[in-house]
Amino acid sequence: MRKKIVAGNWKMNLDKNQALALTNDLVDTLCDLPEHQRVMVCPPSIHLSSVVEVASGSKGLEVGGQNMHQARSGAYTGEISGAMLKSYGVNSVLLGHSERRAYFHEDNSLLREKVDAALAMGIEVIYCFGEILEERENETHFDVVSSQLQEALFHLEASQWNRVVLAYEPVWAIGTGRTASPEQAQEMHAHIRSVLTDTYGTECADGVSILYGGSVKPDNAKEIFSQPDVDGGLIGGASLKTEDFMAIVAAMS
Ligand code: PGA
Repeated sequence: MRKKIVAGNWKMNLDKNQALALTNDLVDTLCDLPEHQRVMVCPPSIHLSSVVEVASGSKGLEVGGQNMHQARSGAYTGEISGAMLKSYGVNSVLLGHSERRAYFHEDNSLLREKVDAALAMGIEVIYCFGEILEERENETHFDVVSSQLQEALFHLEASQWNRVVLAYEPVWAIGTGRTASPEQAQEMHAHIRSVLTDTYGTECADGVSILYGGSVKPDNAKEIFSQPDVDGGLIGGASLKTEDFMAIVAAMS
């Protein structure tokens, strides 16, 4: 059975003390999770080592990276590799976040390389994708999303999908306070699962967790997460406050 996941994307927020304070609070607040639920935070890479250390004393708080380079090592100033993540006990990574696509020019073909590099290192991929406002308005959003999946992920073997989580994030809903309606989220998640089914079959498609991201808050999480094809959320702004993040975690059940 696929798992429900709530993952916090801290983006480029929080200094050392703030990051440690938030992690300690989360560790203190998080209760035993049922078997089918996961909770993760994705701090800036400079905080990974200390957050992993604090989280290791928790009841299941996982830690993921926000990005990684496709090469194993080399002359890529400022970058971090999958091997480095792995060496700090980080076993998941966000790839393809819309901010990486928009500001750092990451496209589907580069992301395909990053996906391969992560999986080769045994790192789970949380692949982020979604349409921009103009694409929704001119009704190309289903095609855009299909291409983002096909070009970066559909070279994978069916067996590799047990290390891939999808995070559908309509760009117009990220950080804007304007969330997709539960019906819009369900409609796109069902589309994503049907595209997966067409290529990989029902068993594989049914096993993949598809998270929704974009202005998920304590007051809308329950309704969004209750949609049949929404398996949790990727949370930006609301992941920076223990109370809000834990309320969203509680909305998983
Ligand atoms: P938001 O960000 O929750 O602040 O909209 C979500 C994301 O970018 O992952």
